[in-house]
Amino acid sequence: MKYNMSKAQVFLAVCAAFFSFNANALSPEALEGKALFPACDVCHNQAQDPALGPPMWGVQRRYRKNTGSDAEFIERMVSFVKAPTMEKAIHDQALGQLGLMPPMPLPDEILNKIVTYVMEEQFPPPCDHWKMAVRRAEEKGDPEHARKDKRQLDRFCN
Ligand code: HEC
Repeated sequence: MKYNMSKAQVFLAVCAAFFSFNANALSPEALEGKALFPACDVCHNQAQDPALGPPMWGVQRRYRKNTGSDAEFIERMVSFVKAPTMEKAIHDQALGQLGLMPPMPLPDEILNKIVTYVMEEQFPPPCDHWKMAVRRAEEKGDPEHARKDKRQLDRFCN
């Protein structure tokens, strides 16, 4: 069998390996959190139809935008998850559609690990969720939400 890789192909393969390694480079704390994340994913899994919670991709973006440091990100999210209130919530779109999340009163040590994972993970854009949301909004006769989710699909899923 001939196995001739050009220099460019070798270079690309090395880059791909490097970037895929980097994408998964979670801290030890986050790795422990990842193992506990199924407790959240039962509702936050983006492929669920109907959705029981907002996909973490968007939750993470909102917390990034609304916090100034990793420490503040973790503190605010842990505080919300332990005891969700309308005042603390920043995901107004999910809140409007799904209602307030039930409290998950886990020990701080556990919540810190889970939230560190949510902060560090590179979640793929929730394309299944948006497709489902567009269909459901159209069925309900809600063109405004259908347009909004269609925009996200066009922007992140093509
Ligand atoms: C029973 C379903 C359910 C479970 C389990 C669940 N969530 Fe949620 N979550 C929701 C719903 C519904 C919302 C959207 C409404 C809201 O923001 O309160 C939400 C919203 C959130 C938000 C956004 C809050 C904001 O500022 O508006 C965060 C952060 C979050 N969840 C984290 C978690 C974490 C971390 C876990 C696991 C420890 C978890 N959730 C488990 C249903 C759930």
